[in-house]
Amino acid sequence: MKNSTLSIRGSKASKGTPRVDLDVFFEASQNTFDARLNPNGAFLLNMAENHHCWHLLRDRLQTISCETQIPDWVAGYTAVTGAPEVRNSIATFLETFLTQVNLDPEHLAISAGATSVIEMTAFILGNPNDVVVFPAPAYPVYKADIGNLAGLERFDLQTHVDLMELSEAKISTSMLDNLYDDLQQQGRNWSMLVLTQPDNPTGIIFSSGDLRRIAKWCIDHKVHLVVNEIYGLSLIDITHPELKEDYADLIQFDSFAKVMAELKSDFLHHWYAFSKDFGISGFRIGVLYSMNQGLLKAYSNLALGRCVSNHTQWLLQQVLDDQEFLHTYIETNQQQLTSSYLLVVRTLRKLEIPYVPAKGSLFVWADLSSLLPKRDNAEYELWMDIYQSTGILLTPGSSFGHTYPGAFRIVHSLVSPAAMAVAMKKLEDYVLTKSVG
Ligand SMILES: Cc1ncc(COP(=O)(O)O)c(C=O)c1O
Repeated sequence: MKNSTLSIRGSKASKGTPRVDLDVFFEASQNTFDARLNPNGAFLLNMAENHHCWHLLRDRLQTISCETQIPDWVAGYTAVTGAPEVRNSIATFLETFLTQVNLDPEHLAISAGATSVIEMTAFILGNPNDVVVFPAPAYPVYKADIGNLAGLERFDLQTHVDLMELSEAKISTSMLDNLYDDLQQQGRNWSMLVLTQPDNPTGIIFSSGDLRRIAKWCIDHKVHLVVNEIYGLSLIDITHPELKEDYADLIQFDSFAKVMAELKSDFLHHWYAFSKDFGISGFRIGVLYSMNQGLLKAYSNLALGRCVSNHTQWLLQQVLDDQEFLHTYIETNQQQLTSSYLLVVRTLRKLEIPYVPAKGSLFVWADLSSLLPKRDNAEYELWMDIYQSTGILLTPGSSFGHTYPGAFRIVHSLVSPAAMAVAMKKLEDYVLTKSVG
């Protein structure tokens, strides 16, 4: 007799959560810090959200909604990969602000958030049980995004041991060769390599030389290379006087789209979304860019259930067509990100806690291993102890697939600067008490 009302897939999905800190996040969200009303409340430093410039965007959206008539096309069906006029505006926006290279709007597909784009790409490019490689540490939910629907398997490539070796991501050709041989010997098919730049959780970027070399290797070995630039405009000012000495070089972010334009291959693809740079994860707008016609055709046949609402597409288009607003928004956002990043690293420096110098993203990847109790499961224990003692909710490093124990991700863009200052003082007191004890 059946002992579940669900399918085998459904039963599996009904257990657990996609990430270890999700339930605590929802609990903490009901009890956030407020200097006057809830001084013992929680600090949400674990969710990759950016609230720095929402007020600017909200005002712009409100003005558009009041002053501009909604066009009739919004009410009906449009192309599954996005309304053509909206894709035109997205292409122009990306060319101007992110890629600095021409993009054909016909090579773009938009869906409900980066998550949908990742799920669809994995479904179309890989076969069940194929391997998708991520240099560790990497975004925890990639596992679900490539696994749930497409049935692909995540492989965390350990490119370094100690966090501080990671001032720049290094994926050598011999590393790729060795992994390729190992997977072949195990009879496993490697279908995709996914890089994120600026990276989640480390904030590092790849040089264009490295990207070109890795892309050529992937083309030669028929492995799809996807570069996720969802944090592509969330850049830290690496020339800031207080920061510049942290960086081994002052190489700036350069989009993978340039390498794609140069190499023009069916094996190279690009992901973007408006969730992070524009702090509108709730709008659910993700973008695939690829020159692979088969991928785009399959995408338009499969992704009807993942479309972005036409009203949202139209609203976004109004924002993207306003270049003056975009310049101000992006510049202000980068200034704010640099300030909130500084708030964290000043504290870490004072406490002599090592961290990876980020060139972008919303994160600081910090090494709290000196505080680890010498027990099994110590990282989890430390994570909970920090939360229960200070209200600071971080994400423990083990969820990112790297073997180094005691690394934690700190999100600096979700709470206000005033709350962040209090959180950093609490972290300082916590670390000092632990060091004495
Ligand atoms: C690297 C990366 N990709 C994808 C996502 C998911 O983005 P979205 O909310 O647009 O689905 C995130 C969110 O944290 C992310 O960090």
